[in-house]
Amino acid sequence: MTPTFVYGTAWKKDATTELVKTAVKAGFRAIDTANQPKHYSEALVGEALAALAQDGISRDSLWLQTKQPPRNGQDERVPYDPQADLTTQVKQSFESSLKHLGTDRVDSYLLHGPYSFPNLGDEDWEVWKAIEEIHRSGRAGAIGISNVNQLQLAELVEKAAIKPMMVQNRCYANRGWDREVRTICQKHGITYQGFSLLTANVPVLRHPPVVSIAHRLGVDTMQVVFRFAMQVGMLPLTGTTDEQHMKEDLGVSRIELTPDEVSFIESVAG
Ligand SMILES: NC(=O)c1ccc[n+]([C@@H]2O[C@H](COP(=O)([O-])OP(=O)(O)OC[C@H]3O[C@@H](n4cnc5c(N)ncnc54)[C@H](OP(=O)(O)O)[C@@H]3O)[C@@H](O)[C@H]2O)c1
Repeated sequence: MTPTFVYGTAWKKDATTELVKTAVKAGFRAIDTANQPKHYSEALVGEALAALAQDGISRDSLWLQTKQPPRNGQDERVPYDPQADLTTQVKQSFESSLKHLGTDRVDSYLLHGPYSFPNLGDEDWEVWKAIEEIHRSGRAGAIGISNVNQLQLAELVEKAAIKPMMVQNRCYANRGWDREVRTICQKHGITYQGFSLLTANVPVLRHPPVVSIAHRLGVDTMQVVFRFAMQVGMLPLTGTTDEQHMKEDLGVSRIELTPDEVSFIESVAG
């Protein structure tokens, strides 16, 4: 089952364990992390999951996603043998993610970003095949790719033996909310996950017509943006560190923008 809102765990460092527990207790059922010590504390997400299980919230009631970051996305703490071939790196990274998370499977596994730009290259295909193999083994429910452009995604959809099921991208209003990539996702039944919906779009949060929509609904413009994202078919991520904001973010499922409001926001800075 694909969730409707994802709690992101980047940049939380030692606070990761408590924040994941707080987010799940606030109502989040989907957690995003990555095997990338530079930005994420995957093992602390695992600690939170163990504590939640003690409190009666089982692993099976949660949707877990993690990622395989290429070598250039890591600092000196590389969680696989950087000298090994890429297939081995993916296998090692995945095994270490399972260990960190204390689970035998994840619900979604992403390539954190392509190796080549603007098209995919040989390294991407080697890594994607290794990720496909993990999916075939039944230990990753969905597989996908992050930080991908439309050329790369179109190529992956066209040529991969197992097509991506998830995309996770930074979503800028001034790029039509990543319209080209979202269009490919819609056409091929790929779930589009949007991050930095707030931090990348501060002008939208202050835009008077968006403020008016928020007033009509009795919420803040942050909730308007998250609800907009859901209504255009995105799966939003939030990385809030504030319990009240967690509740507000989850509360967007109780508001509804009109079709005109959705169209307006879709074109607001596009
Ligand atoms: N694939 C990738 O390369 C990649 C890159 C970046 C992020 N991500 C994922 O996406 C997740 C989210 O990242 P993000 O960049 O979207 O978020 P973020 O950087 O964690 O920031 C969210 C910001 O929004 C604020 N916020 C959230 N809800 C709010 C509310 N209701 N009212 C007021 N402020 C609110 C937060 O402030 P408070 O803390 O004060 O609430 C915070 O400043 C990450 O944790 C990670 O899992 C993935």
